[in-house]
Amino acid sequence: RTAAVIGAPAMFGQPLAGTDKSPQLLREAGLHQNLAALGWRVEEMGDVDMTGPPGGADPAAAGGDARHSLAVGAGCRRLSEAVFEKAAEGKFVLTLGGDHSIALGTLAGVLRARPDTRVLWCDAHADINSPKGSPSGNMHGMPLSFVMGLSDPSTVRGLEWLCETDVPVLRPERIAYVGLRDVDVYERKILHRLKQEHGLFASTMQDVDRLGIGRVMELALEALGVTGNGDEEKGAPLHLSFDIDAVDPKVAPATGTVVRGGLNYREAMYVAESCVETGRLGSMDMVEVNADLTEPSAAAETVQLGLVAVASAMGSRIL
Ligand code: ARG
Ligand code: MN
Ligand code: MN
Ligand code: MN
Repeated sequence: RTAAVIGAPAMFGQPLAGTDKSPQLLREAGLHQNLAALGWRVEEMGDVDMTGPPGGADPAAAGGDARHSLAVGAGCRRLSEAVFEKAAEGKFVLTLGGDHSIALGTLAGVLRARPDTRVLWCDAHADINSPKGSPSGNMHGMPLSFVMGLSDPSTVRGLEWLCETDVPVLRPERIAYVGLRDVDVYERKILHRLKQEHGLFASTMQDVDRLGIGRVMELALEALGVTGNGDEEKGAPLHLSFDIDAVDPKVAPATGTVVRGGLNYREAMYVAESCVETGRLGSMDMVEVNADLTEPSAAAETVQLGLVAVASAMGSRIL
């Protein structure tokens, strides 16, 4: 099978420079070799321009409560086209972030090509803030609000394309959270409502403590309807959006919004492994690695962790 690798060196979804370097760092750490060793034919698409709006307009321009929305919106629009094209060709689409605002682009592209897509969101955060509800205004905390139709993209400068494009809305029963431990007040309200009204699957670190990661992933994939049935042709496709801050900061220190009490190394690998074992995984984001935030050895370890999580999601096995 062929894997398309797309770089999305975005940093305008949050305030800290450095997330833009990650696609290149992941490649330099041996991404292609790893994927080739797993039997993938790798199609390198290079980096999408995530630097700002067309025509060199101010990338820091904001759309009200969504900071840098012109830059985020323009980058994600380009990214969504690239992802759509490769997903429509039937390829595995691996997108290297960048901060998590890029999921606005990857999910728009994947959902357009594969409308049945289910999403496993592995993250310390829910990233479902609306521009008004967000305490920070940082768009890496908002991608799901737009993709799920909870906020109107036409009201945010730079995001107008999202309602003009034929992108199906991601329904709450088609997303499952794993790793949650830092949820804002507004997000809590949303999650409670979606849980009650639509049976949204939102598990927290407490569920991992209580049930173990094995049971949590079983429940998550069951809720999404992508439990492995051995039939590769049947069932809905799965997208894994992997925010490195889902992992405990002792293991993944080089990221911008660290929260203690995260997944340990094996639990993180297990999330990836159980996704690929469904036989339905067709796309993945690896986001929020920021090598500029720690001393070099800790940064290298975090990049390495991102790399092995990708390899695990793409078929690497212990035996
Ligand atoms: N909930 C916080 C906010 O909206 C933090 C979001 C962190 N998101 C991330 N992708 N790391 O500002
Ligand atoms: Mn995130
Ligand atoms: Mn996060
Ligand atoms: Mn519903």
